[in-house]
Amino acid sequence: VRMQPLGPPGCLGHGHTFVLQLLGLTLFAGLLVALLVQVSKVPSSQEQEQELAKQEKVYQELTQLKAGVDRLCRPCPWDLTFFQGHCYFFSKSQRNWHDSATACQEEGAQLVVINSAEEQSFLQLTTKKRGHTWMGLSDLNKEATWHWVDGSPLSLRFMKYWNPTEPNNLGQEDCAEFDGDGWNDAKCDISKFWVCKKSALSCSHEQ
Ligand code: BGC
Ligand code: CA
Repeated sequence: VRMQPLGPPGCLGHGHTFVLQLLGLTLFAGLLVALLVQVSKVPSSQEQEQELAKQEKVYQELTQLKAGVDRLCRPCPWDLTFFQGHCYFFSKSQRNWHDSATACQEEGAQLVVINSAEEQSFLQLTTKKRGHTWMGLSDLNKEATWHWVDGSPLSLRFMKYWNPTEPNNLGQEDCAEFDGDGWNDAKCDISKFWVCKKSALSCSHEQ
């Protein structure tokens, strides 16, 4: 049996050319599609404007939010006065020295311990308007040896704040008060105003 030829001579060659053309066309079409996809991804100027407007809006909202946080962030509770990193409570009622000290402790504070001349000046001025006011200073443990409620001794540089002729221990006076322009030792059982002191909270952006 003679084998039938598969096709005219050269047919195989023509077939190859066609396949190559088809391949080239496909590749070209593919590249064209890829190019069109890339071009369509580039944002139009209108889209760019919209994006900028969006960013501007977000920025304004952030600015307003920050201002809101600043208003909310208070270093002291509403009824306390801020001064140089601390909060001060000036009582509206009067108590004896021990009950005043306890009242401060119950608020997580201390009957005031004075640590600077500025603080002394601020407290003396504020209490002068209110009347006799207890501070956290006494010589209850040992007569004429004055200690603050935090256990520290009264330093020499603060002794100038005693009023003239004070402390005089007149009929046993072991507790210190703000009296006019300076300090006086008074009887601890007497009811007077009092000042508590505690640390202020710091808002994060102030640190
Ligand atoms: C007070 C004393 C004080 C004296 C000063 C009296 O009323 O009880 O503590 O030393 O006044 O003049
Ligand atoms: Ca006195």
